[in-house]
Amino acid sequence: MLAEITEPASFLVDPADVTGLRGVLAKLAGLGYSESLVSARLGLEDLADLQWRLVTILRADRLAGRDPLALAIDLFLLQGTLPMEELDRLFVSSERDVLIRAGLLAIDETGQARARASLYPVGDRLIFSDHAWPELPHPGYATVPYDQVMGVGLDSRHLARCTTRRPFRAALDLCTGSGIHALLASSHTERVCAIDINPRAARCTRFNAQVSGINNLEVAVDDLFEAVRGQRFDLITANPPFVPSPVNTLRFRDGGRSGEDIQKRIVAGLPHHLAPGGIAQIVTQLGEREQEPLVNRLREWLDGAPMDIYILRLSEHAAAKYAIGHAKGDNYQAFLDSIEEWARNLRAQGYIRVVSVVISFEWSDSAYGPPWERVDESPPPRRAAGAEIDAAFLAERLIRHPDFERVLKQSGVCLAGPIALLDARVLGSDIRAKAKVTLMGQALSIEHQLDPVEREILDRMGGRIQVPDEPAAIAAIRSLLRRRLVRIDP
Ligand SMILES: C[S@@+](CC[C@H](N)C(=O)[O-])C[C@H]1O[C@@H](n2cnc3c(N)ncnc32)[C@H](O)[C@@H]1O
Repeated sequence: MLAEITEPASFLVDPADVTGLRGVLAKLAGLGYSESLVSARLGLEDLADLQWRLVTILRADRLAGRDPLALAIDLFLLQGTLPMEELDRLFVSSERDVLIRAGLLAIDETGQARARASLYPVGDRLIFSDHAWPELPHPGYATVPYDQVMGVGLDSRHLARCTTRRPFRAALDLCTGSGIHALLASSHTERVCAIDINPRAARCTRFNAQVSGINNLEVAVDDLFEAVRGQRFDLITANPPFVPSPVNTLRFRDGGRSGEDIQKRIVAGLPHHLAPGGIAQIVTQLGEREQEPLVNRLREWLDGAPMDIYILRLSEHAAAKYAIGHAKGDNYQAFLDSIEEWARNLRAQGYIRVVSVVISFEWSDSAYGPPWERVDESPPPRRAAGAEIDAAFLAERLIRHPDFERVLKQSGVCLAGPIALLDARVLGSDIRAKAKVTLMGQALSIEHQLDPVEREILDRMGGRIQVPDEPAAIAAIRSLLRRRLVRIDP
């Protein structure tokens, strides 16, 4: 057993144990092991904010009660160890035994129990994957294995929340890891295909599908689109290894020195695999160079394919901070050398910062003019935002519609919802320096700058207004419609 406690899970299960494991998951769900209840129990606004530095504090402050939910969180999310007495309060012997047989739980010779994989709540789905912090003790790895399956991290949650949840026929999840995006897509898609080059990741996805009772999901071990040549999908999701890295030690993380090795191949493959009317959504990081819009690189990778592109910028990391964040070293000098190695690589790429983005691609329709791109900036969403991304595509199409002006002149417009407005004025004069607005109640909290005409139109818009027949007003309304601050009221 001692050897086993240092082993990661195999993600293989005897078919005879699947029912037992489903029972364990149902029990955990019944205890309140879901994204919202676990966040609430840990006092976190968002489970994505969980980080290893918090673990001992959370255990002492939030899990001291040692009730069954606290024990489950400690065991399966905080990588804690439970003495037998606590394990017995959490699981009856048949549940404990099935977890041990499935390689998810190990008990050492001193009677301490430890999970060999973590269980991540995502909405009300539960997803097994390797531990989020494999270096943590009990037992912890000195070196994280190259084939570590990524836990459900920040980027995983951000893509999950930004994914459009329309009903689709076929979905493809590239770089599937634990299978999170494929598992989520399985509930609004007829058929899902999940692909990863790492056999352990593919096993993990298959394992998750089995224990969650999902049977419309196929898993392939392959290099990106290789296994689906000639096939098109209505939804394509990907969270590729994107880190611009001077090392290649983690398959799930390192995207080559530029960070682009895998992501550029994914974007280049979209024109061959995205079905008409479909959407591809990628969460990634891109190194940003002075005076070079990110979209230029995406257009180059698309090689002229006419696609509309919506870039949602979620956060930025200055190159120096990024290098510090990734540096590793057992002693001070080794750590400083590592910072320099990471910083040198970013400098060599010309990156002044690294930007976290969710990029959505749809086929462009020439009836609406040339392909467009749109860039918005929002703090990462804390809840589902897919419908807002769909709405952004619709808004862009609406303002490009060949009949737009005619329809607009025959209709009225009204506010799309309550709007928070921040007005900066020059003191001692009537000059309005800047106005910023945000449509409230949205998962994406996008701040828009207004020009004076747009500001005035919004000001006048207590209720519905008829569109004035002036080019400046029409241009302003077009711009407000595009940003979804107002809507057409027929
Ligand atoms: C950042 S992880 C994403 C895991 C998961 N989709 C998520 O969002 O949590 C990237 C995944 O890409 C896989 N990967 C790396 N290169 C690949 C390739 N050429 N083809 C398919 N998958 C690849 C890695 O094994 C890893 O599981």
